[in-house]
Amino acid sequence: MAHAVGIVCGSGLGGLVNILRNKHEFSYSEIPGFVNSTVAGHAGKLVFGLLGENNVPTVCMVGRFHYYEGFALDQTTYPIRLMSLLGVKTLIVTNAAGGLNPAYKIGDVCIIEDHINLPGMTGTNPLIGPNMAGFGPRFPPMSDAYCPRLRRLVYEAAKKLNVPKFLHEGVYVFVSGPSYESKAECRFLRTIGADVVGMSTIPEVIVARHCGINVLGLSLVTNRAVIHKDLRSDPDAPPEARPIEEKIASHEEVLAAADARAKDLQTLVTYLVEMI
Ligand code: 6GU
Repeated sequence: MAHAVGIVCGSGLGGLVNILRNKHEFSYSEIPGFVNSTVAGHAGKLVFGLLGENNVPTVCMVGRFHYYEGFALDQTTYPIRLMSLLGVKTLIVTNAAGGLNPAYKIGDVCIIEDHINLPGMTGTNPLIGPNMAGFGPRFPPMSDAYCPRLRRLVYEAAKKLNVPKFLHEGVYVFVSGPSYESKAECRFLRTIGADVVGMSTIPEVIVARHCGINVLGLSLVTNRAVIHKDLRSDPDAPPEARPIEEKIASHEEVLAAADARAKDLQTLVTYLVEMI
């Protein structure tokens, strides 16, 4: 059967597969070409099934591969090429991300409207190497990477779900990780125009766009990247006048926030897939 929609489940968002029916699951370890993911909160399986009332054929990645695990980007993005060969025409990529935009709250969802591929601009792009012309062109554009129609559908799905307030649209910056950002790095990322920061997704988006797949990216804001605004505005303030340290980023915090919002996100994606 041709599989029309692909979904990549981010950290703590693997519950998305619970919305599939007639499921067939394959552990990544059984699939030739797949490497083994090593991160807590990532089970590592490819799940085929039917989604929503319209029985949309869907293939779901539960757990993804990250650059920081030590894989090459062509290994981390291999599943996207597989999805393309399976007939996926629409890809929904989800992730847990740190909020840089001060208006974003924990549990909010950011529809990715554009990205900054920081490692990619300095030599770590998944498409480096001989072009696989069977998939796409040597120099694919990224100015149209995030499908406007799919982005609009998210608002409609959110209206149906009665939770439009937690939605934003913004710029995702990809960093390699695995260390979280320093305070100065957070200020830098905000300054260059990023709203959310994360360690995944963009290599997958680039490979998907290379293959001609339509992409929707959703970031769940699971924590706030630390930015010391008060310190920045008054660098000469004495130590006792400085703000109390904000919470530092931790993987536990990321998983807890994903857990709290996972249900809404699942419902949102189900409605959305029915509208595609
Ligand atoms: Cl704060 N930073 C990065 N790089 N990735 C994240 C994150 C922060 N929160 C979730 N993923």
